[in-house]
Amino acid sequence: MSHNIKGIIFDLDGVLVDTARYHFQAWRQLAESLGFSFTEEENERLKGVSRRASLEILLSMGKLTLSEDEKESAMASKNKNYVEMIGKMTPEGILPGALDLLKELKQSGIKTALGSASKNAPLILERTGLARYLDAVVDGNRTSRAKPDPEVFLLGAGDLKLEPGECLVFEDAAAGIEAAQNAGMKTAGIGRKNQLNRADILFPNLQGVTWSVLSKKLSDLPR
Ligand code: BG6
Ligand code: MG
Repeated sequence: MSHNIKGIIFDLDGVLVDTARYHFQAWRQLAESLGFSFTEEENERLKGVSRRASLEILLSMGKLTLSEDEKESAMASKNKNYVEMIGKMTPEGILPGALDLLKELKQSGIKTALGSASKNAPLILERTGLARYLDAVVDGNRTSRAKPDPEVFLLGAGDLKLEPGECLVFEDAAAGIEAAQNAGMKTAGIGRKNQLNRADILFPNLQGVTWSVLSKKLSDLPR
């Protein structure tokens, strides 16, 4: 048995770097300032989703309506808090296993891309030193449609000059797994089964995930 995967597209927040918790903290601060609470469980629905779409979901949870100006200032305030947190990041913010895998993929000739909804991806890549391990970067500054739309991953495959069917996507968000499947790509979930039950392959995190482990699992999938 074999597989035809030639490139891997990585989500950023919660897959390569430990920033999902910063997003949660910043959204929770905003919710509290607007007078309602926001739990980690509820935060699952915001993962992978663009800043504006996240705000809309948060407001619907708090049963709150804001004017366009108020929405702009709510997003600005959330982002200010978030940027303060990521501005202090170091390479230590890279999640366990991520660097080893990226290095191994480079040596093995497997192409790599970033496929993130975040407009803050350039700052995070710079702070952590991850940029040099990626052949292409697609982030929220280049996309106009939020996951589960496949746009971000299709752009990534295009940059790598690969067909969607030759790409595997690593994602920690249900919306991201859906986006990758909408793009016609294979998916590897990072997280728990109850949240990512649609992923083709599932890992709790990237620790111990090597190209040979991946190749074996990919070969076992139905074509
Ligand atoms: C995704 C995160 O990677 O980026 C979401 O999972 C976030 O939580 C989205 O809302 C947009 O990020 P940013 O940095 O542009 O607000
Ligand atoms: Mg993510």
